[in-house]
Amino acid sequence: MTENAITAANVEELIAKNISERFSNDHEVLKLSQHFRREGYVKLPGLVSEEIFAAVADETHRLIDAHQKRIDIRLKETGDSPRYMSTVGQKAIATDGSLIPAVYESPALKGFLSRLAKEEVLDCPWDEEKYIITRQHQKGDTHGWHWGDFGFTVIWLIEAPSLEFGGMLQAIPHTDWNKDDPRVEEYLQEHPIRSYGHAKGDLYFLRSDTTLHRTVPLNADKTRIILNTCWASNADLSKTATHETMNAMFD
Ligand SMILES: [Fe+2]
Repeated sequence: MTENAITAANVEELIAKNISERFSNDHEVLKLSQHFRREGYVKLPGLVSEEIFAAVADETHRLIDAHQKRIDIRLKETGDSPRYMSTVGQKAIATDGSLIPAVYESPALKGFLSRLAKEEVLDCPWDEEKYIITRQHQKGDTHGWHWGDFGFTVIWLIEAPSLEFGGMLQAIPHTDWNKDDPRVEEYLQEHPIRSYGHAKGDLYFLRSDTTLHRTVPLNADKTRIILNTCWASNADLSKTATHETMNAMFD
């Protein structure tokens, strides 16, 4: 191990230092916060240093190689939208990973996200949704229209195809998930859909419980890998959540 290695033991200090240097301008942070609250989405370049991102990407690739499983399903709770991809569940990451669980726990990271959300960003009360990995790699692979069970998600673009091959995020903010009557097509007809392209190394913050979202299906055999880290709001802690769509996708 080199002197500069990023480990579970030193990552909090490195995240805190990076955030205080990179986001020292309060006006810039307020603009990011307003964008997040208006659109349910904001891109966060520099949320972690390139070195931390690279170390997280290395761990993600290792976990995929060891634990991925293929799913090809449709889910009634989100209007029969498809999930065509390979996944690595939280338990495998918690057991076999070290850096990703440490990044997830980072008080500096949660504190900064809380500034953007203007409410507390809290550890997810349901372990299985804290962090997961998905890998889309075949033509037609997509994470179809859905909402999250919890409020706050950061997506790490570990690999991304160029935009002509699909994989873009599409989103409709300020919508609500009724699992018995999801009305996805109604929302798609009634509201503008925003599309966001991403490249390898991007990070974005998503208001996952009230933003209907999907990825555009891949139109070729290209690779899109994300790490999904998810936290809860205070409101999430008091509601009775069920986890049908997560249970269907992850071990
Ligand atoms: Fe999602």
